[in-house]
Amino acid sequence: MSTAVYPGSFDPVTLGHLDVMERAAGAFDRLIVAVLVNPRKSVTAAAHDRAAEIGSVVAESAPGVAARIEVLTFDGLTVDLATRLEASFIVRGLRAVSDFESEMQMAHTNRKLRPAIDTVFFMTALEHAYLSSSLVREIAAFGGDVSGMVPPAVARRLSVPSG
Ligand code: PNS
Repeated sequence: MSTAVYPGSFDPVTLGHLDVMERAAGAFDRLIVAVLVNPRKSVTAAAHDRAAEIGSVVAESAPGVAARIEVLTFDGLTVDLATRLEASFIVRGLRAVSDFESEMQMAHTNRKLRPAIDTVFFMTALEHAYLSSSLVREIAAFGGDVSGMVPPAVARRLSVPSG
C-alpha cells in the first residue's frame, strides 16, 4: 500500500491545498494530511481545529477520495512522522518557480535525513496558483472577501472578528 504524508501549516487551508489533496489522494492509497503544531507562530485557529476543519471540508468537497484521506496534527520532523506512519512519500504543492528554491531545499534535507522517503510535487492548478495562506490571512484581517480562495466554512470562520 502506498502511503504519503502531506505536511503543512494550512493556516488556513486554501482551494489550492484542497486541489493538491484531491489529486494526491488519487495517486496514493492513503494520504495523511499533517497539520504542523507550531507554538512559535500566531495562528488563526489551533492546529487540531484546523485539522478538524480540513477533515470536514474534504468530506464535503472531495467525497470520491475522502475515504483515503486522514488528517492529523504533528510536531517534530516530517520525516519522523512519515516513518511512524510507514509513509514512503512526502507530498508538496508547487505554485510557481518562486516556490521551487525553498521546496527543493526542504526535499533535499528530508532525503538526507531519511533517504527512503521521497518528496513528490504536484503543480497547483493554474486557477489557484496565485493563492497563499498568508495573503488569505491578510485579506481576511482587513475584512476583505476570501470566499473565492478558501472553502466556504473557512471563509465564514475568517469573516468572524476574533477577540
Ligand atoms: O505550509 P508550510 O508552512 O509551507 O509547511 C512547512 C512544513 C510544515 C512542511 C515544514 O515546516 C516542516 O516540514 N516542518 C516540520 C519540521 C521539519 O521536518 N523540518 C525540516 C524540513 S526541511
